[in-house]
Amino acid sequence: MSIHNTILRAKFKWGSLLKKRVLANCQLATMEAGYNIIQEGLIEISEGIISWVGREKDFTGDRSNIEDLGGRLVTPGLVDCHTHLVFGGDRAKEFEMRLEGASYEEISKAGGGIVSTTRATREASLTELVEAALPRLDALIAEGVTTVEIKSGYGLTIDDEIKMLRAARQLASLRKVRIVTSWLAAHAVPSELKGKEDDYIDQVAIPGLIKAFNDNLIDAVDGFCEGIAFSVEQIERVFRQAIKLNIPIKLHAEQLSNLGGAVMASNLGALSVDHIEYLDEKDSEILAKNDTVAVLLPGAFYTLRENKHPPVQSLRDHSVNIAIASDGNPGSSPLFSVLLSMNMACTLFRLTPEEALLGVTYNACKALGLENIGMLKSNFVADLNVWDIKHPAELSYRIGFNSLFKRIYGGENA
Ligand code: NIG
Ligand code: FE
Repeated sequence: MSIHNTILRAKFKWGSLLKKRVLANCQLATMEAGYNIIQEGLIEISEGIISWVGREKDFTGDRSNIEDLGGRLVTPGLVDCHTHLVFGGDRAKEFEMRLEGASYEEISKAGGGIVSTTRATREASLTELVEAALPRLDALIAEGVTTVEIKSGYGLTIDDEIKMLRAARQLASLRKVRIVTSWLAAHAVPSELKGKEDDYIDQVAIPGLIKAFNDNLIDAVDGFCEGIAFSVEQIERVFRQAIKLNIPIKLHAEQLSNLGGAVMASNLGALSVDHIEYLDEKDSEILAKNDTVAVLLPGAFYTLRENKHPPVQSLRDHSVNIAIASDGNPGSSPLFSVLLSMNMACTLFRLTPEEALLGVTYNACKALGLENIGMLKSNFVADLNVWDIKHPAELSYRIGFNSLFKRIYGGENA
């Protein structure tokens, strides 16, 4: 479906994918259910796909063009599965206001917050949105990110939401990166429809979804279920339309309070529920039963100085897949680093570095509904990173330090 098209577009975009590569003298963190480290490993890549992985001594294929990685560590490419990279303007002023004591909700109710980014996003042309997003995307690429999810949600009219998604698609043609898009019109009520949430859902969020889908602009449908945004019932109406069109769903839920959005979304088959600081411990069972990924966003937790922690232990106890993302956005998480998100998830949420790496590789792909990507495994997409480190825990351990040696996207150095 549309997500597979995203992969295929990327696969055929870069000319010389027919050649084989063999990377050897390296350590592999394959991320097949954990680090699953292979010492003295070798990876063979054919046509952008991993064709062999294992111990170098067991490889019987052609060794004539081996690339020696000098003992370095190889992981799958990093995946940022929840971002709002495309937006106009900035919210540094609100940062100052929050430091003086105003809360995120107070700022939002006073016409700041998401609605203030909406003004700037509407004023920006498509080209201006692309130009503003590129440095943020480049920051992710520089630290080995190979797949990025980008949401709409700051346009809040059908045309402006579509403009954001067109900008996201354009970014994919300007850089060697896979971009997956989400329709997030149900993010906030624009000031012209203040108090008329239902009208906004009926006049913008649902018809816009159909239009954007027909224009091949959406890979998933998202929403913001919260007191300052939309009710469970309103989001469910948007999701029912998405399901009719066979588009995967996901939700910003239980970030500031518990309205029950995560359970509703999960029971409708959501790929992921994101934030979930206020999720009830017992609801982990529902996420597990429905195979919904829990996406933790430590950048927003940190920025809003949240005290309530997501129920990590109960997620673990129920074997819920946990992913981590930057939530890069102008307000609640002006964070454009997956490595720092990993460090924060460990320090703030007490994830292990192994859980953190799984959360930005295989589990992040799962949160996006992508298959055959996010592990070092035969027949998986050859998106991988070579790091100048000895142990994968080093990726989470350092703060503000990038040890990337080489980034390989679809089998090509990029
Ligand atoms: O994921 N929670 C809702 N949406 C964003 C915040 C966007 C903003 O403040 O601009 C988030 O945190
Ligand atoms: Fe978000």
